Amino acid sequence: MAERLQKVMANAGVASRRASEELIQEGRVMVNGVVVTELGTKVESDDSISVDGKLLKKDEKKVYYLLYKPRGVISAAKDNKGREVVTDYLKDVPERLYPVGRLDYDTSGLLILTNDGDFANQMMHPRYKVDKTYVAKVEGLITPDSIKKLRNGVVIDGKPTSRARAKILSRDTKKNTSIVSLTIHEGRYHQVKKMFDAVGHKVQKLSRTTYGTLTLDGLTSGEYRELSHNEVRELLKLINNK
Ligand code: URA
Repeated sequence: MAERLQKVMANAGVASRRASEELIQEGRVMVNGVVVTELGTKVESDDSISVDGKLLKKDEKKVYYLLYKPRGVISAAKDNKGREVVTDYLKDVPERLYPVGRLDYDTSGLLILTNDGDFANQMMHPRYKVDKTYVAKVEGLITPDSIKKLRNGVVIDGKPTSRARAKILSRDTKKNTSIVSLTIHEGRYHQVKKMFDAVGHKVQKLSRTTYGTLTLDGLTSGEYRELSHNEVRELLKLINNK
């Protein structure tokens, strides 16, 4: 059965479907030795597909990793300016991995990497509402009133955010800073930083500490581990219960 090229690429673990479309448009994908830049292109199961000259293995084993992303690293599989990317931390993994969603360059914390395109798409889909907790160090002494606003939703980019969980962890009157934990299930662009901006607090430091049922327990910055079958099953359960 003929399938769309970007779908076959995502299923083979090249990148998410959207990132695969970008690879196609950038002229980095060949089908049977010919560069294809057309997004609607259909391919058959016996067509040979290569990305950046590397032949695609369509039946590669699906693997799932959790990385404690350090600050100052790009959430991508590759950077065209040669800067450090998250996959540089998983060099020992033979499968071709890409991150499930993004953390900002200056954000640290929990990032899943996989070669399973369907899994990545499901995790990132806003409909499934997977909770993610962030711990932010913000400028100023945050008030219970601002925490209430964060919980009820603030307007960012003209649209209110969904209900969230927010909690003051500590406040430093000398340094005039606060540490706040914020749990959201959306994944809008720079969402956490914008939410704090909306209540008048600039984020100085941001880290993601949980993703669904996963935590960073046992890892330090730059370390990674493979997820067990059980952990992957638990994540999928979160989605299937929605
Ligand atoms: N929200 C942000 O503002 N940045 C991140 O990296 C993640 C969520």
